[in-house]
Amino acid sequence: MYKHLIFTLTIAIPLTKVLSLECYVCENQEDNNEKCVKTIRACEYNQDVCLTEIKWGSTPYWSQGAKKQYYISKRCSNKTECAMTRQRNMNLCTHIWYQDWVCSDCCLGDRCNYYIIFCHSFYNPTDSGAVQITQSNLDMVLASNEVVFINFYAEWCKFSNMLMPIFDDAAEEVSKAGYDPGKVVMGKVDCDKEGAVATRFHITKYPTLKLFQNGLPAKKEYRGQRSAEAFADFIKKQLTDPVVTFGALKELHDLSEDKRHIIGYMDRRDQTEYQVLRRVAASLKDECLFHAGFGDASQQMHPPGQPIVVFRADRKTSTEPDETFNGNLQSFDELYSWVQEKCIPLVREITFENAEELTEEGLPFLILFHDPSDTESVKKYKEIISRELEDEKQNINFLTADGVRFEHPLHHLGKSISDLPLIAIDSFRHMYLFPDYSDMEKPGMLKQFLLDLYSGKLHREFHYGPDPAQVAVNTGVKVTTPPESTFKKLAPSKNRYTLLRDEL
Ligand SMILES: *[C@@H]1O[C@H](CO)[C@@H](O)[C@H](O)[C@H]1NC(C)=O
Repeated sequence: MYKHLIFTLTIAIPLTKVLSLECYVCENQEDNNEKCVKTIRACEYNQDVCLTEIKWGSTPYWSQGAKKQYYISKRCSNKTECAMTRQRNMNLCTHIWYQDWVCSDCCLGDRCNYYIIFCHSFYNPTDSGAVQITQSNLDMVLASNEVVFINFYAEWCKFSNMLMPIFDDAAEEVSKAGYDPGKVVMGKVDCDKEGAVATRFHITKYPTLKLFQNGLPAKKEYRGQRSAEAFADFIKKQLTDPVVTFGALKELHDLSEDKRHIIGYMDRRDQTEYQVLRRVAASLKDECLFHAGFGDASQQMHPPGQPIVVFRADRKTSTEPDETFNGNLQSFDELYSWVQEKCIPLVREITFENAEELTEEGLPFLILFHDPSDTESVKKYKEIISRELEDEKQNINFLTADGVRFEHPLHHLGKSISDLPLIAIDSFRHMYLFPDYSDMEKPGMLKQFLLDLYSGKLHREFHYGPDPAQVAVNTGVKVTTPPESTFKKLAPSKNRYTLLRDEL
């Protein structure tokens, strides 16, 4: 009997060791390092998946400047339990930086939960007609095609595998459409095999669909429908001429008043300057409308052989005369940066639709939260920004927000709709309130607020109280329950995953 027991133990232990799954384990860690990547556990015999949960939020309480951070947990689980956890969390998995969210992921295989990478259900994944892209052909493909649309996938991701056949059908449809060579390629990257490519484009979830135009990644991720038809339409749209031709100058009199325009006065369609304008337009067509006239249509506007390009502000808010580009029209880079500067306004409105893109620009936000009926504060804010803070635009994103729609961030600040208008900085980690809205009009005050962010003063004061000689801010914080998000479809963004980026 005794002997038998020893026998059982000696073979049972090594067997468990060999057969059991190993997962990384950690509980509510701030980052995906230390414990989360060093502690490994052999799972129980009936545990067959590794579960990862990532939470984002400010804890334990909402308060002015409360730190927002990740809380990462990893453990052994089984398929049923993990799927249930995932399902429960999916609704909360918004990745919206100003809300609290939680996401979870299940993976198979020893130590598969080292990275926190999302295999994302917003896409239905595929594989066949698309060109396999690798480190060795990538640059060639990007350089030699006007439009490249790439599916970054991982074979272990169910959603990648679902998208694969659809994407391939689309690729076949696109190749049947008979575009000229050099126009378009639909490609796919196996991110497990091509780690370097995936890292280069900061791929943190599968599948990810990225569009490249003239070798540059488009600012916006593809967020349309995942069907072969929708993909093919999308490609077609990318390839239609982004520059509208006008046949007579008078057509320029009734351009849309609430849009910004770039107008080219050209000699001929085949001149280099026009090709450059077209390429710039392809990349920035969402920011401005582009127009061009050739020969007789525009000969009054420029000396023969010297095409010019001008910017026309939106007539609704500006009466400035058209402004001529003085740089080299044969240089894509020069024209691109000028058009970008002209077409992207200094102060923009943040909405649920563009929040992710704005976040991807990676700059902290200075936000004016206002009542939707209050346009006066918006006007003043814009004036002050353009008068005093124009030279800060490389460092800060100047935004306005409808304080009623964006009520949630107000709670982070311990404020509510009745406190509008308010100004705050959101550094993606913390929100800081500009103490007194009316101080905005005192010259230099907003600038000082930004300087206090850069110098770390705002952060320091949050942790250690006001620097000497500072008046304490009102701390009568009202704790409120954040509303359920109705905007769950926003996809995640690389910039919010500082830890992922550092890791990969
Ligand atoms: C999965 O794990 C949960 C929680 O530990 C447990 O209650 C359940 O019985 C397990 N299911 C299976 C199929 O092992």
